[in-house]
Amino acid sequence: MHKIFTNSLFVGKKVIHLPKCHSTNSIAAGFVTSGQAYEGTVIITDHQTAGRGQRGSVWESEPGENLTFSVILNPIFLTPHQQFFLTIVSSLAVYNIVKKEVEDAKIKWPNDIYCGHKKIGGILIENSVKRNKIETSVVGIGLNVNQLNFSIDSATSLQIVTGRKFDKAGLLEGICYHLETAYLQLRAGNKEALRQLYLNNLLGINERRLFADDAGEFHGCIRGITALGQLVIQTELGERTYNMKEVQFLF
Ligand code: BTN
Repeated sequence: MHKIFTNSLFVGKKVIHLPKCHSTNSIAAGFVTSGQAYEGTVIITDHQTAGRGQRGSVWESEPGENLTFSVILNPIFLTPHQQFFLTIVSSLAVYNIVKKEVEDAKIKWPNDIYCGHKKIGGILIENSVKRNKIETSVVGIGLNVNQLNFSIDSATSLQIVTGRKFDKAGLLEGICYHLETAYLQLRAGNKEALRQLYLNNLLGINERRLFADDAGEFHGCIRGITALGQLVIQTELGERTYNMKEVQFLF
């Protein structure tokens, strides 16, 4: 699990493998604070005891069965207003690997990976900003690989969906390769192409679906995202724009 990746330029050239830790994102944040955060460093653990998810949630993962890791990036070419592009590149990286194995894989806005109605992967991005640029980004990825039982019905894994056991090291290398490829595209300024790829693979795009917001349930079609990454839904009453937490996708 800790070999150096041969097909990437910098993501995964340094891999720190911790048999057990509280949270790879927190460990990575520690490296950032102590000035030891080299771009492309991967911190991976077999047993994450206090995995953190979006919106203060907990990310649970059975020891040894799944991928739980963080990648350190230095996207100083992005302003905080452009941070959604990090969501785009990391979602595409995980999506590309899952899609190779599962036909109906999709990105669920903003950065969950779904197979059918179930979540197979999640991403937690934590940025630090200096002089209006994103100095460091910790991209934390959890992908359910060989776990067979979950405490919640809405979660799944690659083995449950395909009936096959997976080599975690190969999947890790694949995600890092795709992350680096998309990140280099972003650095080269190909923002529109990345945005379009993200939208093309977004769950429910241009389909009539049921949603819920503060006011209750409603039908609508996802039409896209704003420059800041907010979700744009066309409803019977016109177009509405949502931040994270403000809208729920009902299957
Ligand atoms: C979510 O969907 O809520 C995001 C989950 C992110 C989990 C990963 S596992 C590796 C990294 N370390 C953490 O503490 N969280 C992320």
